[in-house]
Amino acid sequence: MCKFDPPNFNTPPFTPFNMKHFTLLLLLLTFFCRAQEIKVIRGPYLQNFTPNSGVVRWRTDIAANSQVIYGNSPSQLNQSVKDENLLTEHEVEIKNLSPGKKYFYAIISAGTKVGGDETHYFNTVPKAGSTKPVRIWALGDFGNSSKNQADVRDAMFNATKTHKPDAWIWMGDNAYSNGKEEEYQNHVFRVYQDTFFKNLPVWPSPGNHDYAGKHNPALPPYFKIFTMPTKGENGGLPSGTESFYSFNYGNVHLISLDSEAMETDSSYLYNENGKQAAWLKKDLEANKLPWTIVYWHKPPYSKASHDSDTEIWMYKVRENITPILEKYKVDLVICGHSHGYERNHPMVGHTGKSATYDAAVHKKANEVAPNQYVVKKGEGQGTIYIVNGSGGQLGGKQKDYPLKSSVYSNVTEGGSMLIDVVNKKLNAQWICADGVVRDMFSIEKK
Ligand SMILES: [Fe+2]
Repeated sequence: MCKFDPPNFNTPPFTPFNMKHFTLLLLLLTFFCRAQEIKVIRGPYLQNFTPNSGVVRWRTDIAANSQVIYGNSPSQLNQSVKDENLLTEHEVEIKNLSPGKKYFYAIISAGTKVGGDETHYFNTVPKAGSTKPVRIWALGDFGNSSKNQADVRDAMFNATKTHKPDAWIWMGDNAYSNGKEEEYQNHVFRVYQDTFFKNLPVWPSPGNHDYAGKHNPALPPYFKIFTMPTKGENGGLPSGTESFYSFNYGNVHLISLDSEAMETDSSYLYNENGKQAAWLKKDLEANKLPWTIVYWHKPPYSKASHDSDTEIWMYKVRENITPILEKYKVDLVICGHSHGYERNHPMVGHTGKSATYDAAVHKKANEVAPNQYVVKKGEGQGTIYIVNGSGGQLGGKQKDYPLKSSVYSNVTEGGSMLIDVVNKKLNAQWICADGVVRDMFSIEKK
């Protein structure tokens, strides 16, 4: 790239004196050229994938052009998308891909190439309604660079070596303590780049730490770092905002909500007539897929490090939002915020405090064997609410822990969830930091 035409040595006056200067100049130029070598300092990471498209992002230390080359094998990256604008934040959308297909890729900025090996690949999303198996990794409250965070990551990496997840969903509090750029860099990208970011699309939701305790979606770096669907790019009703959104994977409809944002109508998630609740109702109404998973940060039911009986963000969402979810037969609700794991019975109508839970009234489960639920057509079902907030942070419980509605709770082990949906069956596991699976359940739809 750096070109230098050497002087003509045969042309006088060329003397030993200016030869010395020339050598010095050459050395300086070599140093300058090396210093200009572009470095990829974040990514590549995968965003907003659909059956036919996807976005690859990365960051360079110096502004440069962007190119993604891709194809059917690492040695056949024969397709290319290029952007000649000089940028440090690279965001390349690849279009005209085939659904449910694996592609290998490499990124290139000004001659610096990353990828082009077996570990740099992306899978496009199976078509909505396809019964192709879908594997989802759900992770909450993780970005603190703790040993627990690394152990939870390694446990999931080892558990999925031969069958990788298709989608990665986050329960919020992704980067401690204030969701700053450098905190995302140190506690998130540094930790997962080599293992997951380069081949697993992430569908995040934000927590109070990502908002630095505030409620204005214009502030958090989270919204600049990630590319969320706002127009229903991957199915679901367009939300018109990156704060909350929905998308499809095969026969699973997923919804990411935002328990932190004050929306443009000054409402929060917990306001039953707020902007988010209104969109949620319409999105659920429009959904025709057999499985629905909804996730966000602050849970409606918890007795771990936070108390859903006393904290307004939690009990108001329980009172105002869980009836909407249950009306539309949402299968799983996964939250974080509390730094433990808490799984409840399939429930309907339990909007009061923990002590008011009455299995005879609220439990709605056809449990054919322990933790194996069968939902028969026309019989209705309960929603299973889970706190999954020990992906990095860990511990803390209320005096009256666990919830009266709890099937299984644990605040001493860190972990994260692996969810497999294969046609009419859903299997979920809670895989702990030491690799042990301490909770499992399944739902079958007949
Ligand atoms: Fe939180």
